[in-house]
Amino acid sequence: MATIFDDYDTAARWIAGAKRAVAFTGAGISVESGIPTFRGPDGLWSRYDPQVLDLGYFYAHPEDSWRVIREIFYDYMDRELKPNAAHLLLARLEKAGIVKGVVTQNIDGLHQKAGSRNVVEFHGTAQRLICTQCRRKYDFRPGMLDTLPPLCESCGGLVKPDFVFFGEGIGPENYRKSETLCKEADLLIIVGTTGEVMPASMIPFEAREAKVIEINPEPSRYTEEKSDIFLQERATVAAKELSRRLEGILVS
Ligand code: APR
Repeated sequence: MATIFDDYDTAARWIAGAKRAVAFTGAGISVESGIPTFRGPDGLWSRYDPQVLDLGYFYAHPEDSWRVIREIFYDYMDRELKPNAAHLLLARLEKAGIVKGVVTQNIDGLHQKAGSRNVVEFHGTAQRLICTQCRRKYDFRPGMLDTLPPLCESCGGLVKPDFVFFGEGIGPENYRKSETLCKEADLLIIVGTTGEVMPASMIPFEAREAKVIEINPEPSRYTEEKSDIFLQERATVAAKELSRRLEGILVS
């Protein structure tokens, strides 16, 4: 009797056989770590006005913007958020020499916390602040946002989070690294993104040679256009099932 391979079997075989896999992740991979998505009925933008991340608005209303930015992106940092099974699987695949890098739209630092080394933070990070005048950078420490807006210790300039605001360009280095990783990939694993935010959403299309596995409870822009296997599931559930199928292949 013929063996019936389901999508998880095929996905696990593709992962096990990949030499240069790359992951492309969005807000969805961090939902089960306690970080809300941006869009969708329970998304951040259903509760906050995204104008606080518009660069022009930020310069015009730095204190108001910072009050909301602190609430959205920093108050939760006290809660010591942990990477989940999906972040951990990608880190294990890197350790096993299968994944060569993670390109993430997320600014939460959870891939690095999971142990991933080669992480391209396409939109920057909330773990660092930067002076808008002298470009001095600061690692975020609790207490830095007690007085708003935070000002630069060197030049007194306005300090902002070191992530990309609407109306702000993507760092050319991040762009180049992301494109190169995808161009050379033989497998692309897309996790938890709508694929709606430009220019990040164009990056997966650079992976012209790669087979594509997508994990998302909802179809995205990639599901029809790019994905070969669509695991319609939450990131942690799909990751645990893939880990189970990859037992014996992955180092612990
Ligand atoms: N597991 C996997 N995916 C999930 C989960 C989950 N548990 N829950 C939700 N998702 C999916 C949703 O179906 C959706 O496709 O995550 C995606 C979240 O969509 P967005 O919030 O739009 O996030 P993303 O596509 O990553 O866009 C984020 O937008 O605001 C900008 O710069 C910001 O990087 C950010 C970008």
